[in-house]
Amino acid sequence: MSEQQYLLEMMDIEKQFPGVKALDHAKLQLRPGTVHALMGENGAGKSTLMKCLFGIYTRDGGTITMDGKPVTFTSPRDALDNGVAMVHQELNQVLRRSVMENMYLGRFPTTKLGMVDSRKMFNETKAIFTALEIDVDPRAIIGTLSVSKRQMVEIAKAVSYNARILVLDEPTSSLTEDEVEHLFRIMNRLTADGVGIIYISHKMDEILRISDDVTIMRDGQWVATRPAKELTTDEIIRLMVNREMTNRFPPKNNKPGNVLMDVKGVTGMYEPTCHDVTFQLHEGEVLGVAGLVGSRRTELLNTLFGYFTKGGGEVTVRGKKIDNATTDEARNNGFALITEERRATGIFGEGSITFNSIISNVNAYGKPLLNGRKMDKDTQWVIDSMRVKTPSKRTHIKSLSGGNQQKVIIGRWLLTNPDVLLLDEPTRGIDVGSKYEIYELILNLAEQGKGVMMVSSEMPELLGICDRILVMSNGQLAGIVERGKDFGGIPGEQETIMALAAKYV
Ligand SMILES: Nc1ncnc2c1ncn2[C@@H]1O[C@H](COP(=O)(O)OP(=O)(O)OP(=O)(O)O)[C@@H](O)[C@H]1O
Ligand SMILES: [Mg+2]
Repeated sequence: MSEQQYLLEMMDIEKQFPGVKALDHAKLQLRPGTVHALMGENGAGKSTLMKCLFGIYTRDGGTITMDGKPVTFTSPRDALDNGVAMVHQELNQVLRRSVMENMYLGRFPTTKLGMVDSRKMFNETKAIFTALEIDVDPRAIIGTLSVSKRQMVEIAKAVSYNARILVLDEPTSSLTEDEVEHLFRIMNRLTADGVGIIYISHKMDEILRISDDVTIMRDGQWVATRPAKELTTDEIIRLMVNREMTNRFPPKNNKPGNVLMDVKGVTGMYEPTCHDVTFQLHEGEVLGVAGLVGSRRTELLNTLFGYFTKGGGEVTVRGKKIDNATTDEARNNGFALITEERRATGIFGEGSITFNSIISNVNAYGKPLLNGRKMDKDTQWVIDSMRVKTPSKRTHIKSLSGGNQQKVIIGRWLLTNPDVLLLDEPTRGIDVGSKYEIYELILNLAEQGKGVMMVSSEMPELLGICDRILVMSNGQLAGIVERGKDFGGIPGEQETIMALAAKYV
């Protein structure tokens, strides 16, 4: 196709950060009316490339053209004014302001007297939400909404600029299944109007479903651009990691032994919560937790960890009654919880990698002076075992790519050497190569006799590494399926789990 037909062309884009060449001859060519997926491992340079387009970073070299005309946007405002909108990987919302104020930040409509025109803001927000079928009150304080609702507001905001190019950086990482479908409908409407969408995601099935073209990056460089229909998941992975990945899961050598944690009738205090959940976690076991969005899997983990108050039931660990009335108590009892919203709840942005690695385990480094050598060693362990891509231990965590930030948070908890490890969607936002590594870590912990509980919405990973899977349905335990008996190459395994997940809905 001739150059003129591209809506956007980014050629030979260069960007250097201290100690990191983030972009090295990066390239992206977007056709109008199409969805263009941008893929690559954590730290490959996807977000940086988009920030160079959007005027957040100044590129060191290369050219950007829109409709064949050279452009350089000096700020996001400039980009927006010229028809480019972006939904960021990290939500940047003013939590204590209303939804509509967040929609109109920096462009408040004013009355003749120069006052903010709240009525206009309300009506316009309402009109956009109605058009996009988004069910959110424009006057609600944004901090009170769920992360997925907040994400939908961001998407609506980007759409409200009527941009010709829309960049979505991991927009579905916290959306429910229905919301993902909803977003795809919105995207289809936009592309039908000729909008070009750049879509960043680690979810292969979504990519292959929604995109027309796929560009793959590795280490800041362009690797390939292909029509999506000519690609398979395996081929994308090969291009991303530059090696064949025949096995998506490491060999499983853990042997579940004695009962480690005995959970009887656990119920949360405040609705919505889990009800009367009874099961046992064994030493050396990886216990999956499956269920639909809203099945209260997260509530179960949070209640066990003492993050949510327990309303009833009993938990014993190795025969000893455990209260976990506070999260500190849980930590002292050998529990660790890795939450689903790591970026929202777990990161100290101004802190270094070292600080972020040791913060959950700070008592282990001695008082009054912290033992620097041990901190260094442990931080290096986090960097090595989680394959964190960073120029140094002193780097501020917020300058790492989104996926690498998550790896530091996971590593932080592994450092506390927990007996009972509670993981909520541990591989969300993590690239395929690193997923393998996280599975390996989980299985290693199990081999050492630890008990691991893992909530996941990805059925293949539950089937790939778990010994048993609890299936939650509407706050209740609908059933427990076992490897070798109910899954592990047995036909119909997914259907069994899905049927249980729908049991009490
Ligand atoms: N502001 C910054 N200062 C220093 N280094 C940065 C900054 N932003 C990004 N980097 C580095 O540039 C590289 C590319 O990061 P980028 O965020 O573009 O990756 P990504 O492909 O979006 O990854 P992910 O899938 O994890 O979101 C990384 O090594 C990252 O640490
Ligand atoms: Mg990114």
